[in-house]
Formats: sequence, structure tokens, C-alpha cells
Amino acid sequence: MSRLRTLKPRAQAALIVAAVLGRGRSLSAELDAYQGLERPLVQNLTFGVMRTLGGLQSVLDGLLQKPLKAKDLDIRCLLLLGLYQLFGMRVPDHAAIGETAEAARDLGKTWAVGLVNGLLRNAQRGREKWQQQFEQAQASRSHPEWLVRRLQTAWPESYRDIIAANDAHPPFWIRINRRRTSREAYAQTLEPADIVAREGQHAPDALRLEQPLAVDRLPGFSDGLVSVQDAAAQLAATLLAPGKSERILDACAAPGGKTGHLLEICSDCKLLALDSAADRLVRIKQNLTRLGLTAQIRQGDASRPQDWWDRQPFDHILLDAPCSATGVIRRHPDIRWLRKNQDIDALTNTQAAILRALWPLLRPGGRLLYATCSILPEENHLQLAKFLDETGDAIERPLPGTWGRAMPVGRQILPGEDDMDGFYYACLSKSDTHPS
Ligand SMILES: C[S@@+](CC[C@H](N)C(=O)[O-])C[C@H]1O[C@@H](n2cnc3c(N)ncnc32)[C@H](O)[C@@H]1O
Repeated sequence: MSRLRTLKPRAQAALIVAAVLGRGRSLSAELDAYQGLERPLVQNLTFGVMRTLGGLQSVLDGLLQKPLKAKDLDIRCLLLLGLYQLFGMRVPDHAAIGETAEAARDLGKTWAVGLVNGLLRNAQRGREKWQQQFEQAQASRSHPEWLVRRLQTAWPESYRDIIAANDAHPPFWIRINRRRTSREAYAQTLEPADIVAREGQHAPDALRLEQPLAVDRLPGFSDGLVSVQDAAAQLAATLLAPGKSERILDACAAPGGKTGHLLEICSDCKLLALDSAADRLVRIKQNLTRLGLTAQIRQGDASRPQDWWDRQPFDHILLDAPCSATGVIRRHPDIRWLRKNQDIDALTNTQAAILRALWPLLRPGGRLLYATCSILPEENHLQLAKFLDETGDAIERPLPGTWGRAMPVGRQILPGEDDMDGFYYACLSKSDTHPS
């Protein structure tokens, strides 16, 4: 990644797109690793290409006279970026063509300068035809077929709206730290900077800003007055609503968005923030430090409590399970290309194993909140229905609120509904009268 710092933005963007498409890397992780000054442009270009890849690939394949070699994926990505600037972004043609072609030199492939220049000029000359092809292909290929099939089966009435929501730009939600301020007071601090904020309808600490902002422009961000978090994700802490001094397990906690909110609601709770990814634990620590909160943070596999549990039951468990993330495609447009159909079975097996393993850790009368940012029934209400069937002392508790839609078990928000991300929640309590 250090090579990226010295490259011009279009060359940097091409390498990032190539890392996602060629090596299955996450777009956000690649962008986080790149802290250069041109980050806004690089982000716009790479997010745009991921969002419109279906349309762009179709135009590129129509324009390329012969396919590029696999080792020239960076040049293919550069061409996609050039086409995105012409058809998706409407950058002036001289910049879209000239600077994109020059980026091939930056990538150490001088031979490709002419190819990029010529292909983009052809696209420009046939603009009307290629723009039409881009739009048609984008309409029919903005998601892989397996995902469209799953969405159509799960949501026959709504799948087109889901796809449109996934292709749109996400809103910018923040969470005020209720220990330090209120929504009203914080919204007033935004007014002098002409930042318009609206209160979230369902999440009591949520404000939606009319325009996205760099976090360092949010008053008090570094002092922990506010965090960036979608309103749907903010429902978790208020649904679990821990009481004073309770013992809470946040089982899949990194990077700690919900951990921070739980502790803002209940700072004297004894919270164990667990995650299996050692390299993500540092993000929990950073988030809590910024918010002035503390938790026990440790690495561990939630499906193997024998490795980390001290045998003291928990009053409540938040299981924000690893999932397909199909509810947050608008925030992470690369997800649709990185996920594969066969991943869904593997994910549902992991979720079931974690649920089963954590249930004995809950005290009788305690509550487990199951959450995913998925909109696939297999990971959500079907998963929970199966668990309730096989677990004698698990009882579903109704979830308060009018958000999303009631499912046979739990509630589901589809992406874009009330401006929120796609999320699923179900709350279970452990009866104290039946054995497990
Ligand atoms: C949806 S993310 C959690 C987001 C987090 N709760 C938040 O609000 O910021 C799921 C997390 O589960 C973790 N994970 C995956 N498998 C796990 C396992 N078997 N045990 C514990 N954590 C796991 C991943 O590393 C990832 O950080």
C-alpha cells in the first residue's frame, strides 16, 4: 500500500479496484489503508466503479477489441474508472480521458497509455450509444444473478426497491452521546456551520445530516460527543436497554460501534467486548477511548466459550452476528461482488453455532438480542425460528417500536426504509422454569 501514496489519484484508484476485484479485498479496508490527500477523489471513483460495475463492464467489453491479460487487471480497472468518469460521473472529458490515460504511465505500463486514450476516445465519440448501453446494463446487472434470485425469492414485492436502494448513496447518520449532550443541544451546535440535521424517527440518539461530512468537521467528535452510526444499528443498544451494573456480553463486538452505545446508555455495566479478529480489537479500544468509556476487551471465538468464559452468567447478550451484510450494500457497494452464493450457507452455520454456544452463558430471565445487517431470511427469522424450535427455554420477546416489519420471529428493516440500513433484530429471553 505504501506505493499508493506516491501515485496520482486515478492510478491509486485503479490499484484499489484491482485489489477488490482480483484479490477479494474489502474496499473500505483498502481505502482506510490509503491516507493520501486525494482521498475524497479516490473514494468517489472507487465507490462509483463498484456501484456501477455491471454497466461499466458491459460497455468495456463492447469497446475492447481483444481481452486484456490477467496480469493487466490494473489497466482493466483504469479503463473502468475512465468509463465511470464519462458515463457515471460526468467529469469533463479532457480530465476523464487525458488524466486516466496518463495514469497508465504512473502504473509503470507506458504501453497502455495509447490503449486507454484510444478506448476512452471511442467511448466519447459514440457517447449516445454507449451511455444507453451503460444505463441498460446497469439496470439489469447492478447485482450478481444469484443475489437477485435470493432477493426476489425473499422479497417478491420489494426486491426492485431493495436493488434501487442498494445503488443509491447512503444517508449520513450520527449518534449523539447521551451522557454528554442531547439531540436538540447537539443539533444547535451544528447550525452556525450551516449543517442541517433531522432527528431520527426510531432511534432516540440519531440525527441525520443532510450532507455527509468528514468526522473532524463534527463538533466535539474527538471528545466523544458524537459517533457516526446508521440509525438501524443504533436500535441495538436501546432494544437491549441494559440496567445499572448488569453484566453484558457483546459477542461480536469489533469495531465497537454498538459497544460504545451500550456503555453510553449504561456506563457502569460490566461489559465484555469479544471478537475473534485480533486485528479488529484495537478499533474497539480506540472507539471506547474516544468516548471515555471502558470495557473488558478480548479476543475469542464466540462459538467456543470454553476458551474465554469465566463461568459467570451474563444478564444480557448482544449477538451482532457475522452475516452476508446484504442490508448495507449501499454503504459497501463492493459487498455484492465479493460475496458468493455459497457463502450464505457457511454464514448461517456459523450463526447457528454461535447462538447455540452462547445460550448457556445467559442467566435465567436474561435477554439475548440477535442482530444482523442482512436481509436474507436464512440468516434472520428462519435462523431464529429453528433455534426457538430446538431450545426449550428460549422465548421470543416482542420488540417495541414501529420500525421495519414484523416477521414470524423478530423484525426486519429493508435498506432505505425510513432512511435506515437493512437490519434484522430478534430478542429472546431465557425462561427460568424450563431446563435448557
Ligand atoms: C457485524 S460485525 C460486528 C459489528 C459490531 N458489533 C459493531 O457494532 O461495531 C461482526 C463481527 O463478528 C466478528 N466475528 C466473526 N466470527 C466470529 C466468532 N466466531 N466469534 C467472535 N466474533 C466473530 C467479526 O470479526 C466482526 O468483527
